[in-house]
Amino acid sequence: MDAVALRLIFSLLLVFALWPASLVAQEKTFRLSAPDSLTETGFLKHLLPRFSLKTGIRISVVGAGDVAEASFGSEGRPVFEGAGAIWRFSHDETAHTKRFADWLGSDVGRRTIEAFKPDGTQLFSAEIRKEEVQVVVSFDGDAKLGAELSLTHCGRCHVIGEINKQNGIDSTPSFAVLRTLSNWEDRFQAFFSLNPHPAFTQIEDVTEPFDPERPSPIVPLSITLDDLEAILAYVAKVEPADLGAPIQSQ
Ligand code: HEC
Repeated sequence: MDAVALRLIFSLLLVFALWPASLVAQEKTFRLSAPDSLTETGFLKHLLPRFSLKTGIRISVVGAGDVAEASFGSEGRPVFEGAGAIWRFSHDETAHTKRFADWLGSDVGRRTIEAFKPDGTQLFSAEIRKEEVQVVVSFDGDAKLGAELSLTHCGRCHVIGEINKQNGIDSTPSFAVLRTLSNWEDRFQAFFSLNPHPAFTQIEDVTEPFDPERPSPIVPLSITLDDLEAILAYVAKVEPADLGAPIQSQ
């Protein structure tokens, strides 16, 4: 092959290599899917143009479930709260959608979110409530104290051991049965966030107060983190029930 032919092939290759990239770079746009409940607030007409003005990236809104490179909905990182929901943003991690994600979390983006006041009242907040309280509780609490606390607070429903064998509620798993679950530690550490407990349980400095509209239906279970630590120390000592076959967790 002579030099001319080689050079021709080389420049053709170069054209192919650069072409698609340059096309994509010019096309500064992506599709964002959002449910009607969000679109109807008018919020996106406030938010998106402000981002586009800054960056030259245009966003076209499509309905929830339509093909899109990014979405506001229930998946991804929580970005704002309002209109009765916490809104999450997920995207395909390409340059433009990523830029939008960064902007949403930036000071300017957050101020823009909170500046939407159609009738003078702010509808969306960039400050997101802690959705899930994560606490790590150690297991070296006082097991004896834990036994007393378990009896008082959990023994209303759970059989916690020999001591209240006759008094548990039948439909409620005993501590011995719960101890057979491989992840019993996780479940006990987080019991206050697992049903049915949130409706009646308060852990000092951890859980949010009950919604005044939905007070606890029964005498509330109120304990501290220290109490929970003691309860865990007790549960760690509870002999797992002998069930023959492993039970299925629900
Ligand atoms: C008012 C009744 C009641 C009280 C009081 C109560 N529980 Fe429960 N608990 C239940 C019921 C009912 C279940 C079963 C829920 C199910 O099967 O979905 C349960 C389940 C659990 C589970 C398993 C949860 C899961 O989803 O895996 C743990 C752990 C637990 N309770 C811990 C405790 C501890 C610790 C206390 C006391 C500090 C306590 N509970 C107090 C009713 C109660």
